[in-house]
Amino acid sequence: MAPAHPTLFFGTAIFGSAQAPSLTSPEAVSDLLNGVHTLGITQLDTAARYPPDNTGASERLLGAAQAGAVSSGFTINTKVLLAGSSSDGTLSKDAVRASVTNSLKTLGIEKVGILYAHAPDNVTPLEEQAEAFNEQYQKGYCEAIGISNFPLDMLERYLAICEEKDYIKPSVYQGEYNLISRDLEAALIPLLRKHNIKFVAYSPLGGGFLSGKLTAGNAEGTRLTSPLAQRFRQIYDHPEFHDKIRRLQEIIQPLGISPTGAALRWLAFHSLLREEDGIILGARRIEQVRENVKEIALGPLPASVAQLITALNE
Ligand SMILES: NC(=O)c1ccc[n+]([C@@H]2O[C@H](COP(=O)([O-])OP(=O)(O)OC[C@H]3O[C@@H](n4cnc5c(N)ncnc54)[C@H](OP(=O)(O)O)[C@@H]3O)[C@@H](O)[C@H]2O)c1
Repeated sequence: MAPAHPTLFFGTAIFGSAQAPSLTSPEAVSDLLNGVHTLGITQLDTAARYPPDNTGASERLLGAAQAGAVSSGFTINTKVLLAGSSSDGTLSKDAVRASVTNSLKTLGIEKVGILYAHAPDNVTPLEEQAEAFNEQYQKGYCEAIGISNFPLDMLERYLAICEEKDYIKPSVYQGEYNLISRDLEAALIPLLRKHNIKFVAYSPLGGGFLSGKLTAGNAEGTRLTSPLAQRFRQIYDHPEFHDKIRRLQEIIQPLGISPTGAALRWLAFHSLLREEDGIILGARRIEQVRENVKEIALGPLPASVAQLITALNE
């Protein structure tokens, strides 16, 4: 029997992007999704913003590929539109209404799975934001409310408002989490546990950094060397992270474990994630998804290896 692990989601942030020229037609997206479904993945992650270099194309391609049709077997989870370079003002009642109306129309569905706030809006009163999401839930436009990228204090205040006003509380939090990005472990994940909120981890491979390609100097042609992947280079392309990749290689190479396999198996079985949580896999090609799902199916890493990997950040 396959080892139990967090639910796997498939991320569609690069659909329609110049970072993934092979994923710009509904036919190509449909082919990829058929492969993804064959692997047992039924949850898709998108956003009104995706991809950042061609806003809206991910939802448009998913809609054109009829990924949300009941027969497709997928649940589509999306996020309220982030317009421009700042998220301020994007979670007002009007903005949330307009974004959800447009997402449902574009996707050709009546309801999404999780409807997320994509990023903090520091201008709209938090009371209005919570009311806006409650309204969408009450209208039946989503199965659940999610929050992504909110800092701890803002999430705490949001939850307090929901309790006070009897609004639907978020039941999912989406944040960046992988073996070298573990800041959320200290306080945010414990807060989620206290409120029974599931954690869905994005960038399990640090946008590809954990494959070791950038450290080895052979990342040409991958997302990491594209001008659009600046965010990942800003986060990970630093000497201390390259050192961690080298140390990781030293630990796993003698055992024939690949860096991507180690990263995904660590996250699925040795991190703070639980079975009820989620991991969003990102990939440009179906072969990568196959490889990643196969790695996770191998189950936990040998205990001594897991300990050494966990200690890389301590
Ligand atoms: N809420 C948010 O703010 C937020 C932010 C970021 C992402 N997300 C969500 O999370 C999803 C996944 O994020 P991510 O794309 O950053 O995930 P990731 O798993 O960290 O990175 C995916 C990239 O890693 C490389 N890769 C994947 N499998 C590989 C393998 N087996 N061997 C070698 N390289 C491999 C591929 O790029 P190359 O082939 O080019 O190297 C792939 O595009 C997104 O699509 C989106 O849905 C959400």
